[in-house]
Amino acid sequence: MQLIIYFGTYGSTEEAANKLASFLKADVLNGLTKPKINVNNYERVVFGYNIHGGKPNKSFLKYYKRFQRRYPKMPVAAFIVAADGNRKGDYLSQAAQLLPAGSPLAFVGGRLDSINAKGLSKVIIDNCLKAFKSNDLPLPKLDEEKLKDFSLELKEKLPQF
Ligand SMILES: Cc1cc2nc3c(=O)[nH]c(=O)nc-3n(C[C@H](O)[C@H](O)[C@H](O)COP(=O)(O)O)c2cc1C
Repeated sequence: MQLIIYFGTYGSTEEAANKLASFLKADVLNGLTKPKINVNNYERVVFGYNIHGGKPNKSFLKYYKRFQRRYPKMPVAAFIVAADGNRKGDYLSQAAQLLPAGSPLAFVGGRLDSINAKGLSKVIIDNCLKAFKSNDLPLPKLDEEKLKDFSLELKEKLPQF
């Protein structure tokens, strides 16, 4: 059994985590609740995090540092949730530097929506959405196909004990 721990803000990361969990029949936890669990009974921990300001979710970075110290041998993987598909390569390289070599990684897109946002974040998102609309660009969304492919990769490349 694999465990998904996700770190999101406005719902896309959670949605991606739940979809992946249903494809993989994995357990899923919201990392922002600081789950204190022993993961030794899982075959792999799959992290999901969003990108703000070009960087991985700060709570993920903090959690992962401690996780690595506690479970240095635990197989891991990660999926990245972000709106800007043009920077997919940057986000995947960041993840490759953070996680052990060979860990499965995927960029799965992400929605931009301000429904749950407040203050400056709401203004930034609404401005981005206006720019997409006025340029007739398709709105960013979660890439379901990529999630499905990633679930297959995670099933296939399960480390053997
Ligand atoms: C304040 C803010 C900054 C963002 N910065 C980036 C960014 O640098 N690159 C990017 O691709 N997406 C960026 N996004 C878009 C989010 O990564 C995207 O909306 C993602 O779906 C968010 O996941 P969530 O719904 O779980 O919060 C930003 C969104 C917000 C609100």
